[in-house]
Amino acid sequence: MKKQWIGMALTIMITMTAGAQVGDTEREEFVDSLIQRMTLEEKIGQLTLFTSDWASTGPTLREGYKQDIQSGKCGNIFNAHTAAYNRKLQQMAVEETRLGIPLLFGYDIIHGYKTIFPIPLAEACSWDLGLIEKSARLSAREAAAGGLNWTFNPMVDITYDPRWGRIAEGSGEDPYYSSKVAAAKVKGYQGKKLEDPLTLAACMKHFAAYGAAEAGRDYNTVDMSERRLREIYLPPFKASIDAGVATVMTAFNELNGIPATGNKFLFREILREEWNFKGMVVTDYTSIEEMVNHGYAQDEKHAGELALNAGIDMDMQSAAFYNYLAKSLEEGKVTMSDINSSVKNVLMLKYDLGLFDDPYKYIDETREENIILSQEMKDHALESAMQSIVLLKNEKFNGSELLPINTNTGKTIAVIGPLADNQTDMLGTWHAAGVDSEVVTLMKGLRKKFPNAQFNYAFGGGFEGNDQSGFMEAIEVAKQSDLVIMALGENYRQNGEAASRSNIDLPGPQKELIKEIYQTGKPVISLVMAGRPLTIGWMDENIPAIVYAWHLGTRAGDAIAEVLSGDYNPSGKLVCTFPRNTGQIPIYYNHKNTGRPFDADNKYTTRYLDIPNEPLYPFGYGLSYTSFEYDDLELDKEEITFGEKLQVSVKVTNTGNRRGEEVVQLYVRDLVGSVTRPVKELKGFKKISLDPSETKHVMFSLTPDDLRFYAKDMNYVAEPGDFKVFAGGNAIEVLEADFKLVE
Ligand code: GLC
Repeated sequence: MKKQWIGMALTIMITMTAGAQVGDTEREEFVDSLIQRMTLEEKIGQLTLFTSDWASTGPTLREGYKQDIQSGKCGNIFNAHTAAYNRKLQQMAVEETRLGIPLLFGYDIIHGYKTIFPIPLAEACSWDLGLIEKSARLSAREAAAGGLNWTFNPMVDITYDPRWGRIAEGSGEDPYYSSKVAAAKVKGYQGKKLEDPLTLAACMKHFAAYGAAEAGRDYNTVDMSERRLREIYLPPFKASIDAGVATVMTAFNELNGIPATGNKFLFREILREEWNFKGMVVTDYTSIEEMVNHGYAQDEKHAGELALNAGIDMDMQSAAFYNYLAKSLEEGKVTMSDINSSVKNVLMLKYDLGLFDDPYKYIDETREENIILSQEMKDHALESAMQSIVLLKNEKFNGSELLPINTNTGKTIAVIGPLADNQTDMLGTWHAAGVDSEVVTLMKGLRKKFPNAQFNYAFGGGFEGNDQSGFMEAIEVAKQSDLVIMALGENYRQNGEAASRSNIDLPGPQKELIKEIYQTGKPVISLVMAGRPLTIGWMDENIPAIVYAWHLGTRAGDAIAEVLSGDYNPSGKLVCTFPRNTGQIPIYYNHKNTGRPFDADNKYTTRYLDIPNEPLYPFGYGLSYTSFEYDDLELDKEEITFGEKLQVSVKVTNTGNRRGEEVVQLYVRDLVGSVTRPVKELKGFKKISLDPSETKHVMFSLTPDDLRFYAKDMNYVAEPGDFKVFAGGNAIEVLEADFKLVE
C-alpha cells in the first residue's frame, strides 16, 4: 500500500514549489499535514521511546517493543544498533504501520560507538576543542554507520563532587570551559546538516543541575539558589542551545522541590521562552513515573500529565503517555494543542534527519563495513588518549630521572596492578558497543614501545574487598626488576551512572599494595586509571612519578606508552579539582573568599584543623617533561569603560630541553560586587607549543561582557569597580595584574 504521507508530501512539494518559499515552510507544512492525518493513538506513539532488549541502561525492560512498533504505539527506539537490526525494526515501522512514520534510533554514544575514545572527563583535560569536536564527529560517523541517528550526548553537567560517579561523563567543574566543550561536541555530532547520514542528532543532558546531587549520591536531591543555577550549572546548556543542539534530556533529580521532569520553570520558562529552544525534549529513563517516588505525582497517569504540561515531548521508557495520555486528554488534564506541539517537535526532528525522504538513509551495511573500527578511527583514538593524560608528578629517584623511559632500555620492568593487562576496563563507563577485544592493554602497549625491555607482570590486587593473596607474587616480581610501573585505579563499573563512592581512595587492596611495593625500595612509577579524581595523597607524598591515565579507550596502552617513553610529551591539564580527602568535598577553584579567608597565622580563619585548604592538585594543573616560565603579564590599559576592550599579554618561555605544549589560562576576579564574587573565574585559555628556549607572548582580550554576573537584582550585568586578572598554567600558580571597569 502506497504510504499516504508520500502522496501528501508530493502534493505539498507541487504546491510549495509553485512560486512559494521552499524550506522551513515546506517542512512546517509537511509536518502539520501529517499531524492532521494522525489518530490520537498514533500521536501518542510518536511521544513514546522504548529500549530494545539489546542493552539495559536503566531499571526496567519491556516485553513487546516490536509489537508496539508494528502497531504504531512506539515511534522511537533506543539501545538498538547495527544496520541489519535497525533495518528490521525500521521496516516494521515503515512497512507495517498505517502512516509508515520512521523510527528514531537513539543510543548513548558518549565517547565513541565501537571505537572508544577517552571518557569525557579525560578528553576534556586535552583543552583541545578541535580534538574534542573531531571525536564527536568521528563517533557520529561510526554510530550512524551502525544504523543510529540520535545520541544521548553531550552530557554537560557541572559537578563539584568527585564522589558522584557521573563526573566521568562531563567536562569538570568550570562553566566557561564546559560551555566551550559542549558547543564543540554538538557541532561534532550534528555537523552542518542533520540530514547528513554520517551525523547524529545530539541531546544535551541532564537538564538541569544533576551534578549537584547532595553528598555526591546519584539521583539525590538538588537545591540551590537561582543565582548559582544560572551562573554555574546552566551555561553549558545555553552553549549547547546556541550551538544548535537538536534535543534535550531531563534530569532525574528534583530542583528546589520540583522534579526536573515536571519542572515548568526549567522547560517552559527557561528553555522555551528565555532561550527560544525549538527542538525536542525527551525524559531520562523512566523519569516520568519516578515523579511518583519523588512525591510529586499521585500516580503514573498524573505524572504523565505533569510532564506534558511542563513541556516534555517524549517519554523514555515510563510508558506513561502510552498508558494514560488518551484518558488524561479525555478528562481535560492535558490539551490536544500540547500533544500536537510535542508530536510536531518529534516529527520535525525526523524531517530534519531526512527520515521522511529515506527512512533507511542511516542504514547501509557497506558503509558500516567500511567505517567501523577503521584505521582513521583508531588513529584518532590514540591522539585523543595521548592528549588526555595528565602528568601529576615527575621527580627523580636516587638522583635519576624516572620519566621518560628510554625506548632502548634493556631494563627488567615490573608491571603490577589490576589495570596492567586489562582490556574491558580501559573502555571506561558508557562504552556503548565498544569492542574490548580491540583494546590495546598497557602491557601490550609497553611491549611494543620498549622491545628490548624484559617485562614481568603481576595482578597484585583487585577492585573490591581486601584480598591480599596476590601481594607476595607482586612483591617478588618487583624485587626481580629494575623499575616498577603500577597500574592502579577503578574498573569501569566504579564510576558513571549509579556508581557514587563515599570513599574515593584507590579501591580494594590497592592502597596497601602500592605501599608493599614501595617497601621493596625499587623505583616506582604509578599510573592511575579511573573515572574520577581519587584521593591519592599517600602516593603523592611517597611515589616519585605519577601519571593520571583515566580510562582512555581503545588505544589506551599505546597512548600511555607514548607518554612514558616521552615520544609524546604529556600536555593534559585537570578540569576538576583533586581533593586531599573526601572531607574536603565540595572543593573547587572558583570559590568565594568568605569573611575570614585562610590565614596561617590566625586560628579564626576558614580552615581545617587536620589538613590544608589547598587541594591535592588544583583545577588546570598538569606537568610536562619540559618546564614553562610565565613573565610580563601586561595590560594595555589600567581601566576600561563599558565600550572598551582590555588587551592582556603574558610571556611564556619553554625553559626546559624538549618541545612541549602548555595550556595558558586566563582568570579574572571582581573584587567587590552587589553580591560576593568568586576569587577566580576562568575567562580564556590557549594551548600553545614551544620549542626549548622559545618564548611566546600569549594574547587575550577581555570586554565588560566577560565580567557579567547575576547581580543582587538578578540582572545579568557587569558592575564598575576593581578587578584582578590572572594568567598561569593552573588556577593557583598565576601572575596577577589590576584594572578597573569604569562608567
Ligand atoms: C540513563 C542515563 C542517561 C541515558 C539514558 C538512556 O539512565 O541517565 O544519561 O542517556 O538512561 O540510556
